[in-house]
Amino acid sequence: MSTIQNYLLELVEWGEEVQRKIDSLEISAEEKNSLNKQIETWIKNVKVNSNRDITHDDEIIDVLQGEAQRIVLSMKHNHNSNTEQVGYGKHKLPQLPYNYNALEPYISEAIMRLHHDVHHQAYVDGLNKAENELYVKQPDKSLVKHWLREQAFHGSGHNLHTIFWFNMTPNSDKKPSGDILKQIERDFGTWKKFKNLFNSTASSVEGDGWAVLYWNPRNGRLGVQSFEKHQLFQIADIIPLLVLDMWEHAYYLQYKTDKESYIENWWNVVNWQNVNERFAKAKKLKWALY
Ligand SMILES: [Fe+2]
Repeated sequence: MSTIQNYLLELVEWGEEVQRKIDSLEISAEEKNSLNKQIETWIKNVKVNSNRDITHDDEIIDVLQGEAQRIVLSMKHNHNSNTEQVGYGKHKLPQLPYNYNALEPYISEAIMRLHHDVHHQAYVDGLNKAENELYVKQPDKSLVKHWLREQAFHGSGHNLHTIFWFNMTPNSDKKPSGDILKQIERDFGTWKKFKNLFNSTASSVEGDGWAVLYWNPRNGRLGVQSFEKHQLFQIADIIPLLVLDMWEHAYYLQYKTDKESYIENWWNVVNWQNVNERFAKAKKLKWALY
């Protein structure tokens, strides 16, 4: 047996260990189900390739390793969302759930590196600073308003970018399915009508902002909204499900002023599975309807 075949068999064993780990996680049955499906497909894929004649430099090895990394990050993401707390001033930049070049040709590696490592990191640092000033130190009364403004800007920037990275995948289904599709059809009529409204929302953003598909627990419906910068033009009490970054730093390097092509191409990398997972969790929040 070749060393590469041995390596693939080790990967299968590792995958089976991950399956056991998923069972022991304190996450919902839906999340377990979704992760189990992903790891089962991955193990099947490794087994198929262990029967083929492949070499070390075969790109399938990179693909399998990249997918394994994505599944582990997804586990960590779900686990974090259920069991842990972040101390004031202790936010961390989440690792991307895919490689920097994974969304090419739709979003270039250069944009992803700059956007994630520099811009998102700056929001994390800004939020930590604001939280330290507000909650850890004794803030000077005259500066409270300033730090609250900083917290709103950087906190919203951090949260929206975190949603954005997990809203995307190199393995997009290209269109919604399951519960989110049913809800889109119920509230917007058709997937096409929703997509047109979302696209118009994204191109209506002046300067820096976001297009957002959200769940509104106050009327039990989906809606579309643009956010100005990160924190203005918002609706309180809604839960964003799918967000598109329309800041120039998200597209200018690759698309220059052609916002429309950026918007249209972005649909090729939307992670509808992630949107469905967010929707399943958001729907559990029940407020009185008004
Ligand atoms: Fe951004």
